[in-house]
Amino acid sequence: MTEMLSTSTANLRAVPQLIRERRWWLLPLVLWGIIVALSLELQIDKIREQSTQVAIEGARNMFRMVMLTRNWNASHGGVYVPVTPETPPNPYLEHSRRDITTTDGVAMTMVNPAYMTRLIAGMAASDGGVVFRLTSLRPIRPANMADDWERRALEAFEHGEKETMGTEPSPHGTILRYMAPLLVQESCLACHAKQGYKAGDIRGGLSVSQSYAPVQAATRDGIRQTTLAHGTAFLLVLAVSWGLLELLRRRWFELAGKMRELEEAHGQLLQSEKMASIGVLAAGVAHEINNPVGFVNSNLGTLKTYTDELITLLEACRTGKATEADFVAVEFDYLKTDSADLIRESRDGLERVRKIVADLKDFSRLDQAEWQEADLNAGIECTLNVVWNELKYKAEVVREYDPELPKVPCLPAQINQVIMNLLINAAHAIDERGTITVRSGHDTQWAWIEIADTGHGMPPEVLKRIFDPFYTTKPVGKGTGLGLSISYDIVSKHGGRIDVSSKPGGGTTLRVNLPLIAADMGR
Ligand code: HEC
Repeated sequence: MTEMLSTSTANLRAVPQLIRERRWWLLPLVLWGIIVALSLELQIDKIREQSTQVAIEGARNMFRMVMLTRNWNASHGGVYVPVTPETPPNPYLEHSRRDITTTDGVAMTMVNPAYMTRLIAGMAASDGGVVFRLTSLRPIRPANMADDWERRALEAFEHGEKETMGTEPSPHGTILRYMAPLLVQESCLACHAKQGYKAGDIRGGLSVSQSYAPVQAATRDGIRQTTLAHGTAFLLVLAVSWGLLELLRRRWFELAGKMRELEEAHGQLLQSEKMASIGVLAAGVAHEINNPVGFVNSNLGTLKTYTDELITLLEACRTGKATEADFVAVEFDYLKTDSADLIRESRDGLERVRKIVADLKDFSRLDQAEWQEADLNAGIECTLNVVWNELKYKAEVVREYDPELPKVPCLPAQINQVIMNLLINAAHAIDERGTITVRSGHDTQWAWIEIADTGHGMPPEVLKRIFDPFYTTKPVGKGTGLGLSISYDIVSKHGGRIDVSSKPGGGTTLRVNLPLIAADMGR
């Protein structure tokens, strides 16, 4: 149960939190939302500005048109029109020839530019929407007095402003207002010089007002469209990216699962390799122990027979029934030498058992699974003893140890496992009977263990792959193909390397190089 729990958390850990927990996805999405919102706001501002600009441009054109007609009128010093109820004589116009009569008796009156503007403005207003008006801060005609907005505009013109525009609420909805100044020209002086104006002065202004509603409608349309576009883009990207993330998440989980399976499989293989090594060891050790235990047992049997005979004789002596024949029956001299031999032999046997057990303990160094300065020669020796059973029928073992070999920083139990793997491989490489030479040596930086066999050797294509996991030339079921790969890992972890040379029929030599100065390897 605990194991399942731990593997599942390990699995979860393999999937990054950003992918695993969907709430993290909201972060980029919120960011995306903010970007879209900002863009929308910018866009709306732009639409507002643009439609207002269009309306203002319309007002400007209107202003120009009115100015054209006015200037035309002024250039003539006023124009004459027939007197009708719509065009009565202008009471504010003081002119010697204001009212005239044509030769055929039609009454004509002079229309000055301001009056004409007012007349056209009346027509435009009744025609639709646009209202324009001539105003002044000091009007001749009181009704031409500027309203509040116009007064502010005129004051601004006095300070050099070229035009003003703005919106203003009114009973008929918001209106857009535009105004620009009217400057006194030569042609104006004919009528306005008497008020003290001179060319270049600001006589007043022409204000153009129009309903803001059409502009607002156009703006609303634009806003609706851009909002729709932004919303669609937002949702589309949201949906697509969410889908992709979901996909990624699922894939990641699948991958994590596969990786866990692989790790488990790898762990199991390492375990079975270990078990296989232990199997070899156990067989060897059993054999080694069996032998001495066997003869110690039979020796004890013989010794028991001897003591039984002696006890019988001693009993007979005590009761005084012992005869000459009884003493002769016990071959005393023989018994004396033989039992001493038996005891010595048994002791030797037990000593062998003790030594094997000690070697085993040394080999695995179970009590010292830590880094330490180890004597490699001693390690080789105890490993040789442990795997002796595997070697003795195959090869003669020649030892060529470096007597001055310095101690090497390592995990002794692991290095022993490497030596064991190499020794067993060497034994397996020998077909009939051969020699295994075990050497050790060192220089200033490295210490090495060399194991050379006189076995069948390897062709280059096999040599290239011997450190690959699961690669084996042994028959199915005879080797996991992990021995050398594990050895390679162990030696790499120590900062060392394994060199190999071999040729078919010419034996194989493997050399394990270990650095004399410990590599820093995740201690
Ligand atoms: C033929 C005479 C005549 C000429 C030329 C003339 N005006 Fe006027 N103007 C008048 C009279 C009269 C008024 C009085 C109010 C009205 O008729 O509405 C007036 C009014 C105005 C007003 C309105 C403010 C007010 O005082 O009531 C402005 C602004 C104005 N004129 C500017 C000009 C400019 C600028 C020119 C030259 C381009 C010009 N006028 C040329 C006669 C003239």
